[in-house]
Amino acid sequence: MNRNNRSDKDQEINERETPFWNPFRNGYHLPIATKLILSYLPIIIITSGVFTIVGIQLISNRIMSEAQENVRHDLNSAQEIYQSNLLHIHDIVRLTSERFFLTDAMVAGDIESVKNELIRVKNVENLDFLSLTDANGIVIFRASNSDAPIYPKIYDELVSAVLSQKTTVVATTEISMEELEKESPSLVEKANIKIIDTPKARAKNETEQTSGLIMKSAAPICDHQNKIIGVLYGGVLLNKNYKIVDEIKQTVFEGERYLGKDIGTATIFKDDVRISTNVKNNDGSRAIGTRVSEEVYNKVVIEGQPWVGRAYVVNDWYITAYEPIRNIHYKIVGILYVGILEQKYLDIKKQTILAFLSITLAGAVIATLISYIISQRITVPINKLVSASREIAQGNLNPIVNIKSDDELGELVSAFNTMATTINEREEKLKEFTKNKIMESERLAIIGQLAANVAHELNNPLVGIITYSQLLLEETPKEDKSNEFLNKIVIQANRCKDIVRGLLDFSRQRQPDTTLININSVLKQVLSLLENQALFLNIKVILKLSELPMVIIDQSQIERVFMNIILNAAEAMDGHGQLQIETNLDADEGFVEIKIIDSGPGITEENLEKIFDPFFTTKEAGHGVGLGLAISYGIVREHKGNISVKSKVGTGTTFIIKLPVSIHGNMRFQ
Ligand SMILES: Nc1ncnc2c1ncn2[C@@H]1O[C@H](COP(=O)(O)OP(=O)(O)OP(=O)(O)O)[C@@H](O)[C@H]1O
Ligand SMILES: [Mg+2]
Repeated sequence: MNRNNRSDKDQEINERETPFWNPFRNGYHLPIATKLILSYLPIIIITSGVFTIVGIQLISNRIMSEAQENVRHDLNSAQEIYQSNLLHIHDIVRLTSERFFLTDAMVAGDIESVKNELIRVKNVENLDFLSLTDANGIVIFRASNSDAPIYPKIYDELVSAVLSQKTTVVATTEISMEELEKESPSLVEKANIKIIDTPKARAKNETEQTSGLIMKSAAPICDHQNKIIGVLYGGVLLNKNYKIVDEIKQTVFEGERYLGKDIGTATIFKDDVRISTNVKNNDGSRAIGTRVSEEVYNKVVIEGQPWVGRAYVVNDWYITAYEPIRNIHYKIVGILYVGILEQKYLDIKKQTILAFLSITLAGAVIATLISYIISQRITVPINKLVSASREIAQGNLNPIVNIKSDDELGELVSAFNTMATTINEREEKLKEFTKNKIMESERLAIIGQLAANVAHELNNPLVGIITYSQLLLEETPKEDKSNEFLNKIVIQANRCKDIVRGLLDFSRQRQPDTTLININSVLKQVLSLLENQALFLNIKVILKLSELPMVIIDQSQIERVFMNIILNAAEAMDGHGQLQIETNLDADEGFVEIKIIDSGPGITEENLEKIFDPFFTTKEAGHGVGLGLAISYGIVREHKGNISVKSKVGTGTTFIIKLPVSIHGNMRFQ
């Protein structure tokens, strides 16, 4: 039993000292701060995770769509540069055709005089060819091949257009190797391009590209009657001519480079073959002869649609835009392409994502720190309250917790402080009360002892006085005056004897005489003695007796207790009223309870404190000594019982006596 108690206590201490881990009970015990942080963490992680995923997705999409938008704009700019080159050729040819020396020579049929001037114009304007036809479109002079014999020309789409529309035309157009040779043999070699296979390029059987793509303009030469007397046409070969693509690179991309590569590239395709480009092979040479992918070819050349997207160009990924180049009959003869190195955007994307991740991570760390601070703000006061509670438990009743907070915690702290103050005040009052009670008990004990000694000492002389005065009284005749005095001596001496006996009873100088008896029968016995007395004639006695177990008591002493209390009640009611006597068994507490309830005037609060004091009486001298209740109190306490009183002035008084049921041998009688 003892050992069990001890181990319970040990466990309690253990629990108090190790709040985090108790392997013998419920496993881990996490502090409230950790629990709070753990409950915030999933929210922080889920929120940051979702934000990061959505944010990265949005950023990626935004960057890539921005890149595509840029490349679309760049293609428009490239288109304008291409058109301005066409217009330049258009202007040269038109302005030359309108010059008087040419008109005059044509009218006069003297082309010899203009040959040199046409050769000069061709050279100055960097044209690859500049030729003259008669009014039927038959070539009569080629500035780029002036010495060769003139081959008759069967059909030229631009010259035909000029003859039918009488206006200057300009267009990109294809030219066969034979036609090129006629215009200028040196162009044949320039136009010849070897086809090179690259990954993802469109498959093709040819190994060579011999025909050319040219920018060509043709203008009418009219006489003074505005009749066409000839046509002047000229142009440039685009094969291996890098002027336009480099102009696009410089103008649109400002020649910007990234990781040793040109960021922006431009290409002119003839059909699907690169004939002019600044996309480079791995060896740094221009990727002439490489081809477009099947996907782009189908979209741009077959369907005639522009194409914007990510594409593998020669040896790297580019964000690209392709657009068809059409001839004068709107037939697709080539493709104009611009592309921006994808790596730059991938790196921007990577950097942005990294920055985004760092911000999210920093945000998560800050959120965790804030949650830590918040949890600390909650747990610090709680911990202070816990240690203050422990201090109270250990007896320090002044642990005021100093925390100011305008929330529930503040209220809890203030309630705790109020509680501590109240407990402290109550403890002080209890101490004072106990001290008074002890002093009072000591005082009563001294008085009791004193009274017992005095009574004991007076007893023998009193017996002598009573005996001798009684003898003297018997021997003195009645008519003798001394008889009356002696009678008074006997009466007063007997009264003294009663007082002395009372004092001896109070100080328990008598031997106990215990029996096993039912309290109900003791009560009935007392009532049968009192009922017929005059004082009880007008008192209504009500008995409410429950079935009770036998108790071991000194019957005569307990009778005396009942007698005292019932007599007091009858005297207080002055012989008129109601007296109720109840008995009950309190099995749980192991007591027999006797209640004696009267309907008398009650006892004032002031007197209520003193009624068990010896010699306290409100009765006139000669009527009461004030020992009845003091003796009763002593007797009940000797029986290990308890006597108490409740009273209300004007209503009545209730005396409650409790006597223990099992008192085998533990009654202390002196
Ligand atoms: N039922 C009661 N109703 C009102 N006052 C009571 C009652 N019982 C006791 N008292 C008061 O308590 C006082 C003390 O009672 P206690 O029995 O000790 O002495 P006493 O009756 O005055 O004298 P005695 O020594 O003759 O009994 C009484 O004087 C009375 O004032
Ligand atoms: Mg009395």
